[in-house]
Amino acid sequence: MTSSPPGAFTRDIPFSDADFRAIARLAQERFGLSLAESKKPLVYSRLSRRLKSRQVGNFTDYLALLERSEEEAERLELISALTTNVTSFFREKHHFDALAEGLAQRVTAGQRVRIWSAGCSSGQEPYSIAMTVLDTVPEAARADLRILATDIDPKIVRKARDGVYSAEDVAGIPAPMRGKWTKATNATGKTYGVTRALKDLITFNELNLMVDWPFRGPFDAIFCRNVAIYFDQETQRRLWQRFSAMLNPDGLLFIGHSERVTGPALQTLTAFGITSYRKARAGVPPALQ
Ligand SMILES: C[S@@+](CC[C@H](N)C(=O)[O-])C[C@H]1O[C@@H](n2cnc3c(N)ncnc32)[C@H](O)[C@@H]1O
Repeated sequence: MTSSPPGAFTRDIPFSDADFRAIARLAQERFGLSLAESKKPLVYSRLSRRLKSRQVGNFTDYLALLERSEEEAERLELISALTTNVTSFFREKHHFDALAEGLAQRVTAGQRVRIWSAGCSSGQEPYSIAMTVLDTVPEAARADLRILATDIDPKIVRKARDGVYSAEDVAGIPAPMRGKWTKATNATGKTYGVTRALKDLITFNELNLMVDWPFRGPFDAIFCRNVAIYFDQETQRRLWQRFSAMLNPDGLLFIGHSERVTGPALQTLTAFGITSYRKARAGVPPALQ
């Protein structure tokens, strides 16, 4: 009996280093994703399913297919296959506490408030933002407050818009909020839908963060958590700078637990808590604020 050497993985479709590099180049150019060599087995396992479902026998033909103008749907399948959508309600709760504290005054005063969940995945993040805001300032429902939630992956945006989750998913919502803002979708109690009041605050859209953004903001808070981690350093630095330009003075930026703002954005953004940044007021350097 023969056995595979440790670390080897079996492939029924050939996948050369050149194939991997071609996929990595495309992922980088189109979506800003940085695929390290160590991701080769993962990329193979996710993309070989796409090749089989399209009945394509090798990666060269698959790459050629992706270039065809009518294959937009397959390019979107590629994004879904290469990215991870892991998320949860109230992930890193301290960000929501900081949001409530930072925005309550503006909302109560009836000022315009805009929040962006960039890379919102299946919606748990923007719905957590909406629950936080409505719980902190009940008048928010009638105030000039809107949440924009965007993601590159159309399938995940549809799921987010639907706002239906498993009982395990909603267990992550603190109990009093869970009872108030979610309702069982049927008698089995296995799935829960978020209430209309939450949905009414949020606009969901597909958006690739790598392209020009079709809006000018400004925003009072931006959540972009556990998204930039997939981008290379230069792409991350550019992204932080673009977010900073989109924030109002005193606006807040929340990023993922293993991410850090780097590069020129640090001239305008100053850290005030764990992975939390505040935009400087015009003309006053962050260090003096
Ligand atoms: C791990 S999830 C993070 C979800 C949520 N922000 C959180 O922290 O729980 C990463 C999300 O980023 C999205 N994403 C990856 N590349 C993107 C890009 N270039 N533009 C927009 N979204 C992107 C993925 O589709 C995925 O839903």
